[in-house]
Amino acid sequence: MTESSVSAAVKSGDSKAAGHADNPLVEVSHVDKYFGDLHVLKDINLKVTKGEVLVIIGPSGSGKSTLCRTINRLEAIDSGVIRIDGEPLPQEGKDLTRLRAEVGMVFQSFNLFAHKSILDNVTLAPRKVRRISKDQADKEAMELLARVGVDSQAKKLPAQLSGGQQQRVAIARSLAMHPKVMLFDEPTSALDPEMINEVLDVMVDLAKEGMTMIVVTHEMGFARQAANRVVFMADGEILEEGTPEEFFEHTKTERAKDFLGKILDH
Ligand SMILES: Nc1ncnc2c1ncn2[C@@H]1O[C@H](COP(=O)(O)OP(=O)(O)O)[C@@H](O)[C@H]1O
Ligand SMILES: [Mg+2]
Repeated sequence: MTESSVSAAVKSGDSKAAGHADNPLVEVSHVDKYFGDLHVLKDINLKVTKGEVLVIIGPSGSGKSTLCRTINRLEAIDSGVIRIDGEPLPQEGKDLTRLRAEVGMVFQSFNLFAHKSILDNVTLAPRKVRRISKDQADKEAMELLARVGVDSQAKKLPAQLSGGQQQRVAIARSLAMHPKVMLFDEPTSALDPEMINEVLDVMVDLAKEGMTMIVVTHEMGFARQAANRVVFMADGEILEEGTPEEFFEHTKTERAKDFLGKILDH
């Protein structure tokens, strides 16, 4: 498949048409966040509809990770509101646990449990939180591991797998919670170059299947191929937002032009 045909396939997915701008799956509304005196998120407004793939790019320190971490409430916000499927994120308690399970997150470092098998890494949370039987959890986990191409590794320990394989396990582990939306925070940044594509391919497949995704990445090929929308952040603010074509071909701000010049020169 050529890049453009993949792109067309991804973007024409039926689920995309099902999304309504006034009925967003993730809504970030007037969100501010401070770390002490540092204003890291400045009046952030974002809506992500069902089936949409939003790519967030921007220089280091611009608040991309903090934004992701606020969306599944790993960080509290100082003002504004974040809604997941219409429900405001609760501050704590059972409701937070339930809502957090609806938001899967994949980090740069895979954070698998080192002393548990690949299979156990994937089944642990569903058994505890979704309270499904071991048989059911194992069955679902094996299907997910097959989907990301590492089912033959199920009995091994994380250290016996390559970085790319471990990151694919981390994706399967998130999917095992049946999230409504998946957040990816620079999922390929810690990988050796030859392993980047195997992880991006899994993410492109997920997008094609209609998963709602927010992806922080510097992989511009992925952004062009799979994103419905690109957001450019700098210094805690959203400076640009548009389709990949609008953003890459008609970059508006000097800040974004400068940033793109630097990363595309590599
Ligand atoms: N826990 C924290 N305490 C204090 N400052 C933080 C913390 N986490 C991030 N920061 C600061 O907030 C800013 C945004 O960081 P981050 O969200 O990680 O940016 P990005 O992911 O875009 O590189 C940076 O200046 C960073 O140093
Ligand atoms: Mg970051």
